[in-house]
Amino acid sequence: MDFFEVVRRRRSIRRFTSDTVKEEDLKAILEAARLAPSPKNEQPWHFIVIRNPEFKKQLQEMVNAMMDTRIQLETDEVRRRRIEEMRFYANYFGQAPVVIAVLTQPWPVGRPELQGLQAFDSGLQGVSMAVAYILLAATALGYGSAWATAPVDFAGPELEAMLGVEKPWMLLGLASLGVAAHQPRPLPRKDLDEISTFVD
Ligand SMILES: Cc1cc2nc3c(=O)[nH]c(=O)nc-3n(C[C@H](O)[C@H](O)[C@H](O)COP(=O)(O)O)c2cc1C
Repeated sequence: MDFFEVVRRRRSIRRFTSDTVKEEDLKAILEAARLAPSPKNEQPWHFIVIRNPEFKKQLQEMVNAMMDTRIQLETDEVRRRRIEEMRFYANYFGQAPVVIAVLTQPWPVGRPELQGLQAFDSGLQGVSMAVAYILLAATALGYGSAWATAPVDFAGPELEAMLGVEKPWMLLGLASLGVAAHQPRPLPRKDLDEISTFVD
């Protein structure tokens, strides 16, 4: 598939068939992430591939339980509703045949001399590129994919404990992969004129 076709086709897929992701395709998707650019080529990422349905279910149940707790503790009705609306978006990963938990380290990784010298978190920018490569590689191979940070928003420490994540690693989010059971229409994007300025 042509690169721009891949970019156009990629949608966030949140419902999957029961078809599996072939081992060689999964490796190719991870290989794409491996080749992503990163600050000082530090590659501040680690990928935990989760295929065990029972374990996925346990992770999903943990997210749900933590969301329940948050809703119970929340006194503001609007915020309670908002959390409830996010439930599906934090949980759909449980139905995906493959979930890739993406870990990163706080920037600068083992380089105290760089502390405070960056305007933004370079490590986070690097790992975000690896995530984008995962989503695009999955699309190129005909799979559906989606990125989710909401599970970490609600149950970050709990998921990290279940996944055996140890400091300085941190769980950034979950990429779901599988054969798409729906093909959502593209969501509107801002016009190019609105998001770009040419200085000639
Ligand atoms: C940093 C980031 C976090 C996201 N977190 C979630 C999430 O927690 N749950 C979810 O369902 N989608 C999540 N998404 C997917 C976005 O909702 C989606 O990309 C956006 O609505 C555009 O739709 P599209 O991907 O189909 O083009 C996230 C996307 C990004 C880039």
